[in-house]
Amino acid sequence: MFEVRPIGRNCGAEIIGYRAEDAARSGIPTDLRAAFLHYKVLVFRDQDLSTAQLKAFGQAWGPLAQQVLPERTVPGHPEVQILEHDERHPPDYYWHADLTWHPTPPLGAILLSRELPSVGGDTLFADMEAAYAGLSDRMKTYLQDLVAIHDRTMPLHRRGVSPQAIYEFQQKFSPSEHPVVRTHPETGRKLLFINGAYTTKIKDLPMAESQHVLDFLFTLTDVPEYQCRVRWLPGTMTMWDNRAVQHYAVGDYMPERRRMERVVIAGDRPA
Ligand SMILES: [Fe+2]
Repeated sequence: MFEVRPIGRNCGAEIIGYRAEDAARSGIPTDLRAAFLHYKVLVFRDQDLSTAQLKAFGQAWGPLAQQVLPERTVPGHPEVQILEHDERHPPDYYWHADLTWHPTPPLGAILLSRELPSVGGDTLFADMEAAYAGLSDRMKTYLQDLVAIHDRTMPLHRRGVSPQAIYEFQQKFSPSEHPVVRTHPETGRKLLFINGAYTTKIKDLPMAESQHVLDFLFTLTDVPEYQCRVRWLPGTMTMWDNRAVQHYAVGDYMPERRRMERVVIAGDRPA
């Protein structure tokens, strides 16, 4: 038994009284899966999980995604990434969904807090189903059947990575094409599936038109009505539907440190 307390009008709910360590033995309860699809962002409080238990919780939702980038991982647990940021290693601040440049972006991700700043370091989420629903019918018709290009090297340009390194990266990880409006494979609902971090162009449109349309769509993450905000506490674990929301890690805690562990659940090809 657990309690569901919504934290946003469209997305986000706290799950109170659930023990994630039980998932390895008894699986994910049907009503928890339903809450995940409905709220898209689940915040579990007071979870005292080992790395192995975090991994087991992720595996109870589905196969974990293969590591595609050379991320730092927990020793002995190659599927569990360490996200650690401080003054010398600041995070990238931008709205995005994870790995949309990959042909099969993740279904979702689970993040567990390990070391938190005294204040700040929240994570914002924006509901891309609500953003789509808020568009005019004319705009929905316009976007229907459009396909966008998602390129991993976009943030690298921003970070000042050398052209040679970017070229080499592109040889290894080519961009992917995904529908601008995807249908959620489990709920059947339509979602905007573009993001300012990786989406570079809408195919078959003139460059200027593509850029203006994307620039407009990128602004929708900034609409407060589509957002929820997660405040991290010791023992907080947050899981999000990477198909349906974008996220933004607020970088307002320097020079303090924030360290999280993350597992990523494999997803399918957007359609
Ligand atoms: Fe991310």
